Amino acid sequence: MKTSGSTIFYTGLLALSLTACSQPSGSGKEASVDRQVEELLGKMTLQEKIGQMNQLSPFGGPEEVAEQIRKGEIGSLLNVTDPDVVNRIQKIAVEESRLGIPVLMSRDVIHGYKTIFPIPLGQAATFNPQIVEDGARVAAIEASADGIRWTFAPMIDISRDPRWGRIAESCGEDPYLSAVMGVAMVKGFQGDSLNDPTSIAACAKHFVGYGAAEGGRDYNSTSIPERQLRNVYFPPFEAAAKAGCATFMTSFNDNDGVPSTGNSFILKDVLRDEWNYDGMVVTDWASTAEMISHGFCKDEKEAAMKSVNAGVDMEMVSGTFIRHLEALVKEKKVSEAAIDEAVRNILRLKFRLGLFDNPYVNTDQDVKYAPTHLAKAKEAVEQSVILLKNDGETLPFTDKIRTIAVVGPLADAAHDQMGTWVFDGEKAHTQTLLPALKEMYGDKVTFIYEPALGYSRDKNTANISKAVSAAMRADAVLACVGEESILSGEAHSLADLHLQGAQSELIAALAKTGKPLVTVVMAGRPLTIEQEVKQSDAVLYAFHPGTMGGPAIADLLFGKAVPSGKTPVTFPKMVGQIPVYYAHTNTGRPASRQETLIDDIPLEAGQTSLGCTSFYMDAGFDPLFPFGYGLSYTTFGYDNLRLATDKPSANGTLEISFDLTNTGKYDGTEVVQLYVQDKTGSVTRPVKELKGFQRVSLKQGEKKTVSFSLPIEELAFWNIDMQRVVEPGEFNLWVGPNSAEGLQTSFTIE
Ligand code: NOJ
Repeated sequence: MKTSGSTIFYTGLLALSLTACSQPSGSGKEASVDRQVEELLGKMTLQEKIGQMNQLSPFGGPEEVAEQIRKGEIGSLLNVTDPDVVNRIQKIAVEESRLGIPVLMSRDVIHGYKTIFPIPLGQAATFNPQIVEDGARVAAIEASADGIRWTFAPMIDISRDPRWGRIAESCGEDPYLSAVMGVAMVKGFQGDSLNDPTSIAACAKHFVGYGAAEGGRDYNSTSIPERQLRNVYFPPFEAAAKAGCATFMTSFNDNDGVPSTGNSFILKDVLRDEWNYDGMVVTDWASTAEMISHGFCKDEKEAAMKSVNAGVDMEMVSGTFIRHLEALVKEKKVSEAAIDEAVRNILRLKFRLGLFDNPYVNTDQDVKYAPTHLAKAKEAVEQSVILLKNDGETLPFTDKIRTIAVVGPLADAAHDQMGTWVFDGEKAHTQTLLPALKEMYGDKVTFIYEPALGYSRDKNTANISKAVSAAMRADAVLACVGEESILSGEAHSLADLHLQGAQSELIAALAKTGKPLVTVVMAGRPLTIEQEVKQSDAVLYAFHPGTMGGPAIADLLFGKAVPSGKTPVTFPKMVGQIPVYYAHTNTGRPASRQETLIDDIPLEAGQTSLGCTSFYMDAGFDPLFPFGYGLSYTTFGYDNLRLATDKPSANGTLEISFDLTNTGKYDGTEVVQLYVQDKTGSVTRPVKELKGFQRVSLKQGEKKTVSFSLPIEELAFWNIDMQRVVEPGEFNLWVGPNSAEGLQTSFTIE
């Protein structure tokens, strides 16, 4: 995809699927894969077939599983990362099992293997699919060097609740952005061909609706009606399927009473029949057996039956398939045809990965933390950090700033800066901000380090006075606050999103010094930092930036890099506003933003005196920061929005252009965003939906015409009749710097 402003940038999922790395189905190679699969399947006993459907994590080492592999009882292993062990296991599989079927080695390689990139939410903030693809490619190269050929990423669960710890692992709240980023990750992991030894199979997860857990509490039930599934939750998965994503994972949640692992509507009707998906479907960890806790199955045997009959191919770790499928087939509760279909999907992947040609890993590779990988990771951080505030041009630091007090628990937190889902990245390789500042800018600036707090949850305020005293001796203060990595991720939901420990007290005390206060937040989610934003002169939101966070943030602080990240999710003011997302519907009584808020309500005011609109008396309506928001050191002017026609045909493409000017003092990059509203529909439609974006780099004073081509087909939605159609009528269209601002026009589809 082009990122230059002068190039037409196709929008929409349609274009996405055209650019994606689809499997060469129908090609000669695929036909031969199919032949090989059928040939092998024909030789397999029922037990051997069921063995392929079994995935285990050998906590006790390879000896624990050697005998099962010999007997053909294991199709895939998780978490074996020693390449010598991988080769030993493959030797047993290939030389000592009856049919010599190699084992598929898998691992959660989520945002890097050794070189850790920003958490996926941070990557989404780049609005740059190319850098996200590059990050996944780096991860694939490093992981495959240890024999891993399958990762459980991308996670493309729409995440509209920052209490949910796994928002860190997502691409945020928007279906379109998540689809673009998910496809980019699939392309990066899988490379040009799965057959390449550096390619690893991707896994679109968690299918589906997991991010809508009630109350943001992980694993909780969801209540997503079919139309919303189709309009909001399915699109990233459909895009991933069309992009050739090799595998899908079922989600833990029960939606409307049906756990995904036993849901044939999503796994068969939608994934296989509507999307023609020929990849492989794995359960999430033990989610087959967990259907017993859900109260959906009475025992393991019923769980195995419901999983396979719903369309699952491989079971992750709970072992119910290996224990019960043979009996279920004999009792005709599961057909052998269903087993064959599952095994076909598994073998097809193993053939596509080239595992039968070469199951072994070359143990002689030195690719981890390669300088090019580190450089790419640094670039990703530079593009992902979001400048939320910059009053009085506090940033970048100028020559006048000779001494900086570096304060807070995240300034030198090598472990925590890597973020969630890091099994393999090493603290010793993580470059934190404090040493990076000293090394890169220490010749010009003196840095006084007074962390005040040992870690983010530290409540001990005893050392805050030391930080204040350091601030008093400095020209500016850099407060590095946020969350430890353990506070986000799987099973790590929070009900309170304020800064943990005594971090708010620390910021308040620093603000009182009157010194310019720059706050850098490293966190796994949007935090409710309204107070701290007010107290700071400038705020950089870095999420958990990974291995290269330090040098990248240092360059951003000193203007060698200019911020361009945008919020991939709405930042609430208060937890009570959640769910708060930009693509909401309007209600019959939309907020006017003129409502009287709680402190201004007169005593004994009459019941109807406040009016009757949809808002919170204490939080108003608007969030702290809208979706798509982020500043730069420079400024951008948007002008002259024009459409090639205001009556595009329903099967045509709308050509949109406008002028973007860099009106500030720095060269910079703007993420321009295209939003559309279908004003009236057979069902209510969101007030805005993202339909395209591009990163446009402009020199100081430079002006460019930016163009979008929007296929009208992209305005289709699942309507009152549960049909995906473009309904004629009036549409509003915006181009702008975020979801709350921009130039507006309208058009009509007749
Ligand atoms: C459970 C998580 O939900 C899933 O995302 C992950 O891939 C598996 N565990 C394997 O570790």
